[in-house]
Amino acid sequence: MRTFRVFVAAAALVLFHGSSTWASEQLLKSKNCLACHSIDKKLVGPAFNEVQRKYASNWTTAQRAALAQTIRTGGKNVWGPVPMPANPQVSEAEALQMIDWIMSLNGGSELQDPGAAPTPQVPANITPLKGLWWNPDQPGHGYDLQAAGNQLVMVWYTYDTTGRPVWYLAANDYAGNSWSADLLRTWNFGVDGETVGTVTLSFTSATEARFEWQVGGVSGQEAISLFKFGSGSDPVLGPLSRTTGINQTGLYFDPENIGYGLSIASQGHWCIEGGRSRASCENGVTGSEVSVLYFYDSNGNPLWALGSGTFTSSLASMQDMYLYRGSCPNCSYVSPGGTWVGTITRNHDDSGIGAFSCSIDSSLAGYSGRWERSASGFKRLTNTQEVRVEY
Ligand code: HEC
Repeated sequence: MRTFRVFVAAAALVLFHGSSTWASEQLLKSKNCLACHSIDKKLVGPAFNEVQRKYASNWTTAQRAALAQTIRTGGKNVWGPVPMPANPQVSEAEALQMIDWIMSLNGGSELQDPGAAPTPQVPANITPLKGLWWNPDQPGHGYDLQAAGNQLVMVWYTYDTTGRPVWYLAANDYAGNSWSADLLRTWNFGVDGETVGTVTLSFTSATEARFEWQVGGVSGQEAISLFKFGSGSDPVLGPLSRTTGINQTGLYFDPENIGYGLSIASQGHWCIEGGRSRASCENGVTGSEVSVLYFYDSNGNPLWALGSGTFTSSLASMQDMYLYRGSCPNCSYVSPGGTWVGTITRNHDDSGIGAFSCSIDSSLAGYSGRWERSASGFKRLTNTQEVRVEY
């Protein structure tokens, strides 16, 4: 509890801006639009107040949707010979928010067919994709979302006010499209733990959610989405295992030595031919994996390390692991710095049972202790991932 008190007591100002105009301008800035556009000057792209003038006299729901689409997929030949590249970092909802802000310039435009405007509807039931989630605007911390039975399990890996890595665990039944759970912090190598706050996830799609947290009277929130690191022309949430087509994404633990764990997220192009899959196909694109190891320093306080690599064609894989320093949830953001601390190796079958080895020297990153395991028993705690979801 003491560490956590320090964590929240020294927390910086909670940045809260209620103004949606402010939020939209920040959005345009954070999505790099202002590299080519300004409100009232032509840069590489047209001035936004010129865009407003062009469409103001015929501002319809269809036009609004078309411009939101142009923002996401790029455009050409409307303003001149220079094309606008695609902006895949922008979601559909964000593109609509941006275009609404642009059309509010010069005194604003009323939609001529407001009745036709589809009210954004959040589906009543959303099955979130499992794996690592993040805030793409603030890389360095993340959310490991997994399902175990009817429960949604979340490991929040972030930093305390000193920049030190820390992780928290939350689990509760999930149904519908939102989820709340108590936030647990463990110490003494996972033997002890206590509730330090609450967290809520409100999903708007299978890959997007709002995350709200409350810890010791301090609260915050951020928009998070599935961390998409896989590549390929036909992205699947693979890679799948060679034999049965099971995605290896999940949270793994050692039944003989509970309290620490490993999360695996697998994504990327994976070909299935004649009922069998193979690691690379068109253009030699392979699958990728990100692993997060949740462990402890020599005093039993939580640490986490992250590694990534390509998914090899065998079920064994080795990864270099890095310990990061970063900013606490409501500290001002600094990009995290990583230090190599060792490797992990795992080898398991489709049922999610196998062996795990690691050699981590936390002192390389300025923390105490080594975390060594040699061919420990290893078991998937969480449900198998839904297979092949386009995004
Ligand atoms: C690399 C430069 C560049 C970036 C980055 C960029 N744009 Fe553009 N944008 C352009 C250019 C060039 C055009 C004109 C394209 C044309 O002639 O059709 C344009 C056109 C537009 C239009 C008018 C489209 C039409 O069909 O009339 C809108 C709206 C727009 N951009 C919004 C955005 C937003 C929002 C972002 C950020 C997500 C963004 N742009 C990022 C260069 C850029």
